[in-house]
Amino acid sequence: MAIKWTKELSVGNEVIDSEHRNLISLANDVVHAIEARNHLALVQALETLGSWLQIHLVNEEKIAHAAGFDFSSHKPAQ
Ligand SMILES: [Fe+2]
Repeated sequence: MAIKWTKELSVGNEVIDSEHRNLISLANDVVHAIEARNHLALVQALETLGSWLQIHLVNEEKIAHAAGFDFSSHKPAQ
């Protein structure tokens, strides 16, 4: 079952929203690989998702700090 990004998921920052949409798309690639029982595609999808997730978390933290948002309490949840 694919995940869909909706306006309700928006955090009000286009950069973060764009990255979240990308992560959802990559998560859907993982789901599709599982559904297709395609081991190679699953490994590749997980590696890609993991790489982009690391990039996103760094970007998100930078944006939060620039906006004066204390990100420390949110880090463990991600
Ligand atoms: Fe995020």
